[in-house]
Amino acid sequence: MLSEDENPIIELKDLCKSYWAGNMEIKILKNINMKVYPGEFLAIMGPSGSGKSTLMNMIGCLDRPTCGQVILMGQDINKITDSELARLRGLEIGFVFQNFNLVPRLSATQNILLPTYANTKNSIEPNKRANELIKLVGLADRSNNRPSQLSGGQQQRVAIARALINDPSIILADEPTGNLDSKTGSEIMGIFKDLNKKRRTIIMITHDHSLASYADRVVYLKDGVLT
Ligand SMILES: Nc1ncnc2c1ncn2[C@@H]1O[C@H](COP(=O)(O)OP(=O)(O)O)[C@@H](O)[C@H]1O
Ligand SMILES: [Mg+2]
Repeated sequence: MLSEDENPIIELKDLCKSYWAGNMEIKILKNINMKVYPGEFLAIMGPSGSGKSTLMNMIGCLDRPTCGQVILMGQDINKITDSELARLRGLEIGFVFQNFNLVPRLSATQNILLPTYANTKNSIEPNKRANELIKLVGLADRSNNRPSQLSGGQQQRVAIARALINDPSIILADEPTGNLDSKTGSEIMGIFKDLNKKRRTIIMITHDHSLASYADRVVYLKDGVLT
């Protein structure tokens, strides 16, 4: 599973992130160094407010660092334009959030297809792949349902299928089971574990120790410092 002889799929070098309250700098992430290798299942743990979601936004290239570097698949994101970055992110990173973040007006299948409207790979036939993915997550009979007609667990399955539509190299999940009961949460973790067996890189944020056991490696964030 783990292949340290390869180059990291993502690397953070002395990464910092601050927010400003007026003139006052609030340092959220402090000199983070981290390498994630292809096929790894990494859990990032830490208490609420420790900077986990901020770190996920950095790893997911949703935001740029205050200082330091994010190197995604060999590319230093400080050296590419916003539109190049958006494309790289759209093709290579699939996001799963605690609140599912589905579009209420759209059906399950339409939600799954959403990322392909902005960017997709030439090798992907979106409709065909959406059909395969809705089966993969066990919702073939729910393809026309809107989110409000689905349970929380079903909505998260749709969100996972959406994260996979562009066949990304990395899946980033921020507290993916935080809004689910423990049985449904275990089912969702089972999906992540299966994806990881197919050598997909998974980075999951959680503050739940029982979920971190699904990962190959766990790192801890405390007050913006990785330990
Ligand atoms: N956009 C923002 N502006 C200012 N402060 C922020 C912003 N986003 C997060 N923070 C602050 O950064 C800290 C870490 O937040 P977050 O990364 O969401 O932590 P976690 O996910 O570990 O709970 C918190 O103190 C939060 O209030
Ligand atoms: Mg968070």
